[in-house]
Amino acid sequence: MEHVAIRPPILYFGTPVVLLSTENEDGSANLAPMSSAWALGQVVVLGLGPGGQTARNLRSRPELVINLPAPGQWRAVERLAPLTGADPVPPHKTWARFERDKFGAAGLRPEPSVLVRPPRVAGCPLQLEARAEAVRPDAAGDFVIVEARVLRVHADPRIVVGDTQHVDPAAWRPLVYNFRHYFTLGPELGASFRTETPGRAARPPRPEGPTARPEPAGEAAQERGRPAR
Ligand SMILES: Cc1cc2nc3c(=O)[nH]c(=O)nc-3n(C[C@H](O)[C@H](O)[C@H](O)COP(=O)(O)O)c2cc1C
Repeated sequence: MEHVAIRPPILYFGTPVVLLSTENEDGSANLAPMSSAWALGQVVVLGLGPGGQTARNLRSRPELVINLPAPGQWRAVERLAPLTGADPVPPHKTWARFERDKFGAAGLRPEPSVLVRPPRVAGCPLQLEARAEAVRPDAAGDFVIVEARVLRVHADPRIVVGDTQHVDPAAWRPLVYNFRHYFTLGPELGASFRTETPGRAARPPRPEGPTARPEPAGEAAQERGRPAR
């Protein structure tokens, strides 16, 4: 079959959602969902809108936490979607409203970090404390590209292989943002020849694992607003 040429307004082809905690001017925490995030070794590259509070914070205060929510936390992520920590709301964010207490609005709980000032998000199975080493505009000047060096990885023990340093691919499931809809992974298809955890994912995720945990009661009822991205 021949392909058709299309011009999709967005190209969000399915990347994991992260929740970025950063520090506001007054020392409080901001929290924002993002999916333009990918890792190169111990560096995570992030793509941000330039007018948001997260970009503003990282230009002045480079510490952050890259929290990876479980699939069951998607409604909390979506509750953050129509919010910005920027006051006044930047004019181009016509869909957004200001919220100072993002954790409270999302129904998420902060917990202290060890090496950086912004808090971690309790209940996220992976939390990466990091420092932005570069915060610069992209070639067209439309976005901000951040290179964040990871300083400490906190993992829920249920997604770690025994006494090793490895995340168990059979137990960890990311929340994936796929053309503005939330998904998670399907069953494993196979492993890379470079895997260091052979045979780990050749079975369905453990039902008792953190990634299978349902939302606390009542969270679904609080959903409001539309995704910004
Ligand atoms: C699932 C999801 C993924 C998003 N991904 C990004 C992203 O990669 N980059 C970005 O700048 N905004 C992204 N957004 C939009 C921001 O979350 C939104 O602009 C928010 O208002 C930023 O908050 P802040 O102004 O407090 O930083 C995403 C939103 C959602 C719900």
